[in-house]
Amino acid sequence: MTDVLWSLEEVRAALAPDEVIGEPPAGFAGVSFDSREISGGELFFAIQGVRMDGHAFVADALEKGAGAAVVSAPTEEMRSAGPLIVVEDTLKALEALGRAARARTAAKVIGVTGSVGKTTTKEMLALALSALGRTHAPPGSFNNHWGVPLTLARLPRDVDFAVIEMGMNAPGEIAALTAMAQPNVAVVTHVAESHIGAFDDLAGIAAAKAEIFSGMAPEGVAVINADAPHSDILIEAARAAGVSRIITTGADEGADVRLLRAVNDARSGMVSAEALVCGTPASFVIGTAGEHMARNALIVLAVAEALGLELAPPMQRLREMRPLAGRGQRHTLHLRGGEALLIDESYNANPASMRAALAVLGEIVPEGNGRRIAVLADMLELGEQGPALHAGLAEAVDAAGVDVLCTVGPLMANLHSAVPACVRGPHMSEARELEAFLKEVLRPGDVILFKGSNGMKLGALVRALTEAFAPERNLA
Ligand SMILES: Nc1ncnc2c1ncn2[C@@H]1O[C@H](COP(=O)(O)OP(=O)(O)OP(=O)(O)O)[C@@H](O)[C@H]1O
Ligand SMILES: [Mg+2]
Repeated sequence: MTDVLWSLEEVRAALAPDEVIGEPPAGFAGVSFDSREISGGELFFAIQGVRMDGHAFVADALEKGAGAAVVSAPTEEMRSAGPLIVVEDTLKALEALGRAARARTAAKVIGVTGSVGKTTTKEMLALALSALGRTHAPPGSFNNHWGVPLTLARLPRDVDFAVIEMGMNAPGEIAALTAMAQPNVAVVTHVAESHIGAFDDLAGIAAAKAEIFSGMAPEGVAVINADAPHSDILIEAARAAGVSRIITTGADEGADVRLLRAVNDARSGMVSAEALVCGTPASFVIGTAGEHMARNALIVLAVAEALGLELAPPMQRLREMRPLAGRGQRHTLHLRGGEALLIDESYNANPASMRAALAVLGEIVPEGNGRRIAVLADMLELGEQGPALHAGLAEAVDAAGVDVLCTVGPLMANLHSAVPACVRGPHMSEARELEAFLKEVLRPGDVILFKGSNGMKLGALVRALTEAFAPERNLA
């Protein structure tokens, strides 16, 4: 049974079901709550989502080959579709399976939280640690009250490292996630304005991130970005939680893993960095542009140090890191007469990541008479501070040497009016309204950055342009 993730006995022990209907198989190959993913042999959990109740997809999942479905409200239709494991609360059941996975694994678990850079750092860690052992990490963000238990429940028996992203919108959420994941190493990437909803200020956000230290495994190590605002709150919380060691990262002289130099070859999208890892010199190349990526890489080195691993193999892997979809991916636009460079940051935006992306744009020197064009859309979930945080980007736009600023959305109107008139391009309420303008004005040599919250739909605009200026179209 090498490809059995969970035996039926283990599932019974973890879930303590009220009833088992029909004859589930002796083992399950995977765990899922999305019937579209079912390929055969999985244990399907019917979870109540924001819009949909997974119970509506139980029959579909079983028909597609799920071994059994975990449900709280069995119906005749479900009974006739296949075996059912009946529990009171299906999300609690998934959490229970996640806890069982944590209890049975010998893997070192690395928990990653922070206001920005969680997924990027998770991917960097997964890439780097896979140089030294089998590594499990979820796809995408998967960082909330269902993503974390699902990731744990999917943890194979025999991995060496598990990297778990943890996100939050309110106090208490990280505490619940860390209690489930019990990280051996807990990372806080950054403290910044993002998902600000329930918080008055950055200190409150820092305190909520610091909850990650409350659920650690014995002898746990904290990795803290000491350059983050209120890192003192993080360090204090880690101490109070009784961690065995705190490793700080950053550019400051006092940082344990200290960035000495980051040389950005912005056009190729690589960064060469030098650091001191607890006094030992380290130099490495990261395959994604920006000093912020070098800072994320410090965290990778700190985690290796925390786990007592060799530094060289994970460090060498960083060269293979590539920008994630919508987070810095680059496209060449084939215009009549030459090429333009498009940087797609359409997935996510908050003030910290906007500044990081603008800094990268500023480091690229446009070719010929090309220009730096920034298409910036609203940063969502910033609460009352939204307008001021948008206007506050004017300095970063200026420092990046942006020639044309196009803005999208009501909040970005604040930035549009805060920049000098000579920089102002059009301001639109919706992204697609910029398509015709951009197709008209783009010229060879231009470097164009798209950045905004995913809900602002800049991704569709990026697709429209990459399709319109695909290589085969404009060779004539
Ligand atoms: N250390 C950093 N400082 C500033 N920006 C960063 C940093 N690391 C990554 N970013 C940028 O922040 C944005 C979000 O990155 P990422 O998806 O990794 O964050 P996240 O914390 O996982 O976000 P979410 O809360 O949506 O899950 C991207 O534009 C990314 O390039
Ligand atoms: Mg994420």
